[in-house]
Amino acid sequence: MPKVTIFPDERVLARTLAAQIVEAVAQKPDIVLGLPTGRTPIRLYHELGAMHAKGQADFSRVTTFNLDEFLGVPPEHPGSYRAFMQEHLFSRVNIPDSQIHLLNGVAPDPLAECIRYERAIAAAGGLDLQLLGIGTNGHIGFNEPARELTGSTHRVLLKPSTRHSNAALFGGNEENVPREALSMGMATILRARRILLIATGKSKAACIERAAHGPITTRMPASFLQLHRDMELVLDEAAASKLSRS
Ligand code: GLP
Repeated sequence: MPKVTIFPDERVLARTLAAQIVEAVAQKPDIVLGLPTGRTPIRLYHELGAMHAKGQADFSRVTTFNLDEFLGVPPEHPGSYRAFMQEHLFSRVNIPDSQIHLLNGVAPDPLAECIRYERAIAAAGGLDLQLLGIGTNGHIGFNEPARELTGSTHRVLLKPSTRHSNAALFGGNEENVPREALSMGMATILRARRILLIATGKSKAACIERAAHGPITTRMPASFLQLHRDMELVLDEAAASKLSRS
């Protein structure tokens, strides 16, 4: 049974989680973090920025690896996850650029880029703390529901529903959202020493129940998190509203 923590609302969740992450950084200043994009972590990232601005958090020795990036989108494009991270986190804290890692969506050889990324994570000593969001279809990173899942960092074809939910990054038009992406794989994620999956809002309630208590199936990639020893679901009341037991 996964550990579940439920907060009354998104604000309290973001504040409490930011304080926990700052505490984890204080305990291990050279911590290696795995980071998600999406609407869900935005408040958390801003809270981390606010704590840094108040002198409560030093990220100078932290290393980060983002989960995924759109294929064919250069880092400087406003729709890239690199640009998202810059806006919501990296411009607000003091992580040196050389310690920030994202997949390069315009790498000339995407396969070689995936291999490079896996090696970089290993060379950093592996992920200490992986933060995750979840897609309404149960995807984590860009590991989409499918007949088979991939273990290591790889190239993926995005589902229409995922392109739809990422449309805001591309002028609100899902046709402009790339059809493919690069993503950490299921094994890359599951090798993290600790995993916190954050979900807020009613739209996530059904997939959270299936991820937490449903069968472990490639049709619900987040269900594989049930196999992890140190995984916690961090939810607001709305996202927790369909949990059958917790
Ligand atoms: C994207 C990302 C995922 C993220 C998901 C949920 O597709 N690749 O890593 O978890 O969206 O996004 P949101 O937090 O906006 O619901």
